[in-house]
Amino acid sequence: MAVTRTFSIIKPDATRRNLTGAITKMLEDAGLRVVASKRIQMTKEQAEGFYAVHAERPFFNDLVSFMISGPVVVQVLEGEDAVKANRDVMGATNPADAADGTIRKTFAESIEANSAHGSDSDENAAIEIAYFFKPEEIVG
Ligand code: CMP
Repeated sequence: MAVTRTFSIIKPDATRRNLTGAITKMLEDAGLRVVASKRIQMTKEQAEGFYAVHAERPFFNDLVSFMISGPVVVQVLEGEDAVKANRDVMGATNPADAADGTIRKTFAESIEANSAHGSDSDENAAIEIAYFFKPEEIVG
């Protein structure tokens, strides 16, 4: 299987509870390597653009408000089949449905404040990585 990259966000509910290290350790223990990372305060425009695919969903405005409610840590992760490895360790979007031992089961507060985001495909990973990182900021 190929070594690929994916994009991750440690969300405001997790940074607020000082869980950046704990979540990063779970990512690393799942075989992923952090090849870029920065803590940022997203602007409303950035959050709206990032989640544009969800613009028509009823939860869109609340999601944007939540994502700008505090700092986030955006990361590029590298590993064998990185998109799947990241999604497996994150668990289901709704923590009520997430498997034991996953990030969302362990830490998420709700379907909205679900502690972590991960790309859902290699194509979206490339788009999402480029949304937040310049190529020279990624060091594998
Ligand atoms: P994420 O993987 O970042 O992608 C979109 C986000 O929307 C999702 O995680 C959740 O945090 C949030 N969200 C809020 N409500 C819902 C919902 N009803 N269904 C799916 N995602 C939701």
